[in-house]
Amino acid sequence: MRLSNLVTLSLMGVASAAPARHHQHIEKRDAVTTTVKTQVTVTQGITGQTNALLQEDAVVGTTAAAAVAVAAAAGTTSTLEPSSAAGSSSSSGSSPSSSVTAGNAKGITYSPYASDGTCKSASDVASDLAQLTSYGIIRLYGVDCSQVENVLKAKASSQKLFLGIYYVDQIADGVSTIKNAVESYGSWDDISTVSVGNELVNGGEASTAQVGEYISTARSALTAAGYTGSVVSVDTFIAVINNPDLCNYSDYMAVNAHAYFDENTTAENAGPWVLEQIQRVWTACGGKKDVLITESGWPSQGQTYGLAVPSEANQKTAISSIEDTCGSATILFTAFNDYWKADGAYGVEKYFGILSD
Ligand SMILES: *[C@@H]1O[C@H](CO)[C@@H](O)[C@H](O)[C@H]1NC(C)=O
Ligand SMILES: *[C@@H]1O[C@H](CO)[C@@H](O)[C@H](O)[C@H]1NC(C)=O
Repeated sequence: MRLSNLVTLSLMGVASAAPARHHQHIEKRDAVTTTVKTQVTVTQGITGQTNALLQEDAVVGTTAAAAVAVAAAAGTTSTLEPSSAAGSSSSSGSSPSSSVTAGNAKGITYSPYASDGTCKSASDVASDLAQLTSYGIIRLYGVDCSQVENVLKAKASSQKLFLGIYYVDQIADGVSTIKNAVESYGSWDDISTVSVGNELVNGGEASTAQVGEYISTARSALTAAGYTGSVVSVDTFIAVINNPDLCNYSDYMAVNAHAYFDENTTAENAGPWVLEQIQRVWTACGGKKDVLITESGWPSQGQTYGLAVPSEANQKTAISSIEDTCGSATILFTAFNDYWKADGAYGVEKYFGILSD
């Protein structure tokens, strides 16, 4: 079943037939956020932030410094292998300022759908990708619309793909589609990570044990297909914090974290807020897993939600803040406005496009 058909159904009001939450944000309120929020309050450059964390609480601060180093390692294409990244974090964790780099983000998410939910053509995908060459990683969510093939054909040679098998009842088919695309249009070296499922625990669509089974199934099929890189599930930061069993399955922690949905964070503080969530996830996993933010952005339109005000100016401010604070550990959300989506909570869902006018 193709995603575009499901999206079209959903837009027509037959939502129950669709996996209703495809790419929709449904982050739950985070009751404990406020208790740790004071740890990171000002953006002072990377070293300054780390010092602030350390001063706030010696124990948490130490792990936070390590978390930053870990996050940076996870976000570095050349060190995405969990062993090297995890090894450096547990042994040192002392020099985050040397491993977290400001500037452009690690990557950006991309979905190949036209406004009506139909698949973009290969040439439209190529035009889109030509605007994304400054991002080292392109994150895709599914294998429909020949997107793996089309993006492999269109991407710059140095760019890597963070792939997604969206439908967990079609893991074997997803791996097969990926394998065929990779063998025809690239190599496994083009793939930094394969993820299975997006926000399943956050959305109440799977238990942590089920997520473990999905990852295991995907990893076996991918290994048989010749892929030996990272395999993860993606969930929200709060789902991992509330369900730390999730730490046991993925090769590293791939989490979505949107400051807008926090409601108490301004666009100016989006970056420090994301950094704080990296630290919290790292701590929730006992310092054993790297953390990569697989979605973080800010809407350019929609309703004001507490201190979170959507606007084009605030989107620029928030993205700059994220890039300056933890860009090397973050895949930004998202390349272009998603007009194919439902309006979503607070009417923001369509308007996270960073390159859209
Ligand atoms: C996850 O790992 C932790 C630490 O090794 C362990 O205590 C826990 O039982 C594991 N959970 C599951 C569901 O395997
Ligand atoms: C935002 O702050 C208010 C007031 O302190 C608090 O009641 C609310 O729970 C906070 N929201 C979140 C998502 O933390």
